[in-house]
Amino acid sequence: MSTRITEVNLAERSYPVFSGPGALLAAMDKVSALCPNKRLICVIDETVAPLHLETLKKACGEAQINLHPLIIPPGESQKSFARLEALCHDLLELQVERSEAIAGFGGGVIGDLTGFASAILKRGTGFIQIPTTLLAQVDSSVGGKTAINMAAGKNLIGAFHQPALVIADSAFLQTLPARQMRAGYAEIVKYAALGDEGFFSWLEQHGAAALDGDENRLGEAITRAIAGKAAIVAKDERENGVRALLNLGHSFGHALESQAGYEGALIHGEAVAAGMDTAFAYAVHLELCSQHDHTRLRQHLRSCGLPSCLNETPGGSYTAKAMMHILQNDKKNRNGILRLVLPRSLGDAIVYEETDPSGLESFLHEQLEAC
Ligand code: NAD
Ligand code: GLY
Repeated sequence: MSTRITEVNLAERSYPVFSGPGALLAAMDKVSALCPNKRLICVIDETVAPLHLETLKKACGEAQINLHPLIIPPGESQKSFARLEALCHDLLELQVERSEAIAGFGGGVIGDLTGFASAILKRGTGFIQIPTTLLAQVDSSVGGKTAINMAAGKNLIGAFHQPALVIADSAFLQTLPARQMRAGYAEIVKYAALGDEGFFSWLEQHGAAALDGDENRLGEAITRAIAGKAAIVAKDERENGVRALLNLGHSFGHALESQAGYEGALIHGEAVAAGMDTAFAYAVHLELCSQHDHTRLRQHLRSCGLPSCLNETPGGSYTAKAMMHILQNDKKNRNGILRLVLPRSLGDAIVYEETDPSGLESFLHEQLEAC
């Protein structure tokens, strides 16, 4: 398999996503065009820097670009006002100009934080996403959502700020721990579950091999997921409609993550897996979706070592009351009405307006007891 290029079509904000093996080198001409001062500032964490900074430095050197890394600690806690302020301070010290691009080189945390700094610094600089986790390659690097967290919930302070270029080189995934690979895979399952039953069947057949390191199958899964996201973002950049479907599993997932505490006991993709299973279970409860489709989803999540049932989800002592509290602050809610992404079948999801929050709370309570 070679590098694939998927275009995110957003008129003057359109950009290419280079994915697969060799993506970094294939994209270096585009990087050069985004570095008018022949300098690339990249934000990277302390875990990724020793593994992959040298590779980027070499590629930049060959393109006569001076790489300037800003290295920060890893982890979700970095998506904070304190880190954002420190990062903006460092970027201003470097006299960043609006015309140059800042690169976020790492997982979704680095991408979300760097993207938000780029969105607000001098009212917006250029931005390049160089994702190094599977989750970031198939989801967070594409589509322009950037954010930091608040105590009230995840990603509540942020901006839409599209990158000018995404470089999702599969070579970076070779150092990713298996748990992080599985968590990223949950987002791939999400695309299939919300909009492409054929892709879901393909994942049932080939997903395990992709996770076990079969490069061709992993490459195909990544490309299909990126294409699925690019198509939805092109239709609805600001999430006024169909883009909300990309949140399948996320509302319940965020409610779990927030209780688990962002310290690694339950990581984002795991929370999304458990959240998707909950969305399917609730859709069955509401008679929106068949038990057969829920069983297929649950079996696939389990076969990949991902959480599914709420009462078996690791990482915290979850309560329905606390989950409801987080759900009430969800960004999708309108006019005080809770809006959930629920499946009608595998490959077909809708936004459902919840008119019976106490019924949902009882359902969650039962699921947390036994599901
Ligand atoms: P992450 O960024 O915390 O990365 C996970 C861990 O893997 C970190 O410790 C990191 O240092 C390490 N790592 C990264 N690349 C590595 C590599 N190649 N080899 C070894 N270790 C590596 O987590 P994530 O799962 O990538 O991203 C989760 C974040 O993304 C959350 O904050 C979530 O809210 C956000 N997100 C954003 C969007 C969006 O549209 N903007 C979508 C989904 C998720
Ligand atoms: N991860 C959901 C979105 O980008 O809309």
